[in-house]
Amino acid sequence: MGRSPASWFHPQPAEIPMQTNYDKALVPDYELPDPLIDGSGHRVSTAAQWRQQRRGEILQLFEAHVYGSMPGPWADPNVRLQEQDGAALAGRAIRRQTRLRFGDGDRAPTMDLLLYLPTAVSAGPVPVFLGLNFSGNHSIHSDPGIHLSTSWMRGQDDTGVSNHRATEAARGSQARRWPVEHILDRGYGLATIYCGDLDPDFDDGYSNGVHPLFYRAGQTRPGPGEWGALGAWAWGLSRGLDVLQQDPDVAATRVSVMGHSRLGKAALWAGARDERFALVVANNSGCGGAALARRRFGETVASINKAFPHWFCDHHRQYDEREHLLPVDQHEIIALAAPRPVYVASAVEDHWADPKGEYLAALHAGPVYELLGKRGLDSSHIPQIDAPLAETSIGYHLRSGGHDVTNWDWDQWLDFADRHLPS
Ligand code: GCU
Repeated sequence: MGRSPASWFHPQPAEIPMQTNYDKALVPDYELPDPLIDGSGHRVSTAAQWRQQRRGEILQLFEAHVYGSMPGPWADPNVRLQEQDGAALAGRAIRRQTRLRFGDGDRAPTMDLLLYLPTAVSAGPVPVFLGLNFSGNHSIHSDPGIHLSTSWMRGQDDTGVSNHRATEAARGSQARRWPVEHILDRGYGLATIYCGDLDPDFDDGYSNGVHPLFYRAGQTRPGPGEWGALGAWAWGLSRGLDVLQQDPDVAATRVSVMGHSRLGKAALWAGARDERFALVVANNSGCGGAALARRRFGETVASINKAFPHWFCDHHRQYDEREHLLPVDQHEIIALAAPRPVYVASAVEDHWADPKGEYLAALHAGPVYELLGKRGLDSSHIPQIDAPLAETSIGYHLRSGGHDVTNWDWDQWLDFADRHLPS
């Protein structure tokens, strides 16, 4: 346990100087690892080989070199439905708020799951989108019935956060990104969890959040190959799914996981690991999400590890400015969603997240989908702005505008889910 003194902690002299590149002419030549060549150099040519051997191998490489290994579920969380209202949002929604407590005592971490279902669920269980939020469940809608989170918040006063705690003024501060009524009108439920319930988003040496729950005797922080914040967030998404799958009004086999930006990275990782998620959406997820690391365009492995040292496992730092040595690249995390539908969404002005790298990763996940009898992206060039590719099991769009979640994005994901979710 603890930090290893290995040389990767003291990066070698850079082979390419570290600076943010926004010039496509300066993207280095690179060769992507082939998801269909296994660790001993053999071609994976059947679906059974993928399932029984190669999928697990790639998952382990992501654990060992990128996100860290993670524990299974907490054995016996205390799960309590704290509140429900059958006529929320002016009668349009059923609202349920469930608290999970991991462990005993006052300091045991808790995770609050907020669920809205369309009131018309009497017609049968509905598919649900589950996503983490950045600013507390109360931020996704001004609904006064949502419990105001008491967790640590990253935000500033102008988002209704004071001294890292939410105030009443924080209600609905992110509502623009969560068109709840529209999602319900389309026949879907929406569930969300505050990422900070799993791990507050700052570098505290992992003394808070869910990491300490799993420390072995004497351990004080995750080992160099163990999970960071992204792992904890992905773990929380699976715990949310545990609860949703017990809800008779939720179609348990039709839960999609979605996320924006850092939470899009977590959604991809959750969807890769947990095959109970029926569909995966990664919005503007960039470096460590859907964007190919080897392109070094916009945010790079070195810059993300420097700015957010708590997101990945410590082993990831050995690839600072040495992306070409990574045994995986991000097309393979998309491939781990196969054969389930996956949607990668970019925004044209979001250069930091490298839209082209996100598109190429989606494209190069295609061979795994084809092996499993599904179709990958059917365009070998990036599509026009605001012209989604959504016919096949890998969806992609390049939205106009910048780093954000818009109603238009949601409409594309809802259309994609209508078309591709299993019935
Ligand atoms: C920063 C970070 C990105 C991340 C984004 C976000 O820009 O560098 O990797 O996706 O924050 O989560 O908003």
